[in-house]
Amino acid sequence: MKKIIIANWKLNPPTATKAISLAGAIERGIKKIRKAEAVIAPPSLYMRDVGRVLRRARLGAQNIFWEDSGAFTGEISASMLVSLGAQYVIIGHSERREYFHETDQEINGKIRRALKGGLSVVLCVGERDRSKEKFLQFVKQQILAGLKKIPRVYSKKIIIAYEPIWAIGTGDPVSPDDLYEMTLYIRRILFDLFGKKAAHTMRVVYGGSVSSKNAASFLSVEGVDGLLVGGASLDARDFVDIVRSASFL
Ligand code: PGA
Repeated sequence: MKKIIIANWKLNPPTATKAISLAGAIERGIKKIRKAEAVIAPPSLYMRDVGRVLRRARLGAQNIFWEDSGAFTGEISASMLVSLGAQYVIIGHSERREYFHETDQEINGKIRRALKGGLSVVLCVGERDRSKEKFLQFVKQQILAGLKKIPRVYSKKIIIAYEPIWAIGTGDPVSPDDLYEMTLYIRRILFDLFGKKAAHTMRVVYGGSVSSKNAASFLSVEGVDGLLVGGASLDARDFVDIVRSASFL
C-alpha cells in the first residue's frame, strides 16, 4: 500500500490567497510523485479554493459536526465537506480535545457521521505524558471509545494517527523504536475490534514534530503507513520533500 502523507494546516495561513499559493506550490512539487499519496487539510473556509488547485493531492478537513443539519450555529457538516470535494476528515486532534473540550463520545459521533457521509476518517490519539505507566491504556481507551459500535465494513475508511501530545510542535518526536512498539500495540487493539485482516490493512500513521529531515526514520518503521504533518506542511518545499521520501519506501 502507498504511504499517505497528511498535511494539517491548523489555523494557517492567514489569507485565502496565501492558502491557494501554498497549495499550488505543493501540487507542483508532488505532481510527478506517483508512489505516495498526499492529503491537504486546510482550514474549512479555504477548502473550496484549495480544492480547485489540487490535482494529485486529496482534500481533507480538520473537523466536522456530529449532526448533518439543524440549529447548530457555526458548525460544519459531512454533506458540506463532501460538497466541497473533501475525502478525508481529521477527528479528535489533541488540540480540539484540549481547547474545545471534545469528549470521546463526541468524537465517536463525529466519526460515525463522517463515515456515513462517505468520508475517510483520520482518528488522532496519543498520550500527554509518557512517564506515566498507564499511557498505553490511555491510547487504547481513546481508540475503543472513538470507534465504539463502528461496524467492521468501515474499517477500510479509518486511519489511526498516533500523535503523542508531548511530541506535537515541540521538535521532540517519538523514537522509531517506541513508534514501532506503539504501532504493534495499536494493531493489536484493531485486531480485537475488527479482526485479523483489518488489523493488517488499516493504516496507522505517526504525527508529532515530523520534518523533512526525520520523516524517513518514521516511514521506515514496520507497520507505519504514513505521517500527519503540522508545522512542516506550511512550507511547500519541506512538505514535498516528506512526500518524496515516502515514495522511496
Ligand atoms: P507538528 O503537528 O507536525 O507541528 O508537530 C502535528 C499535528 O498536530 O498534527
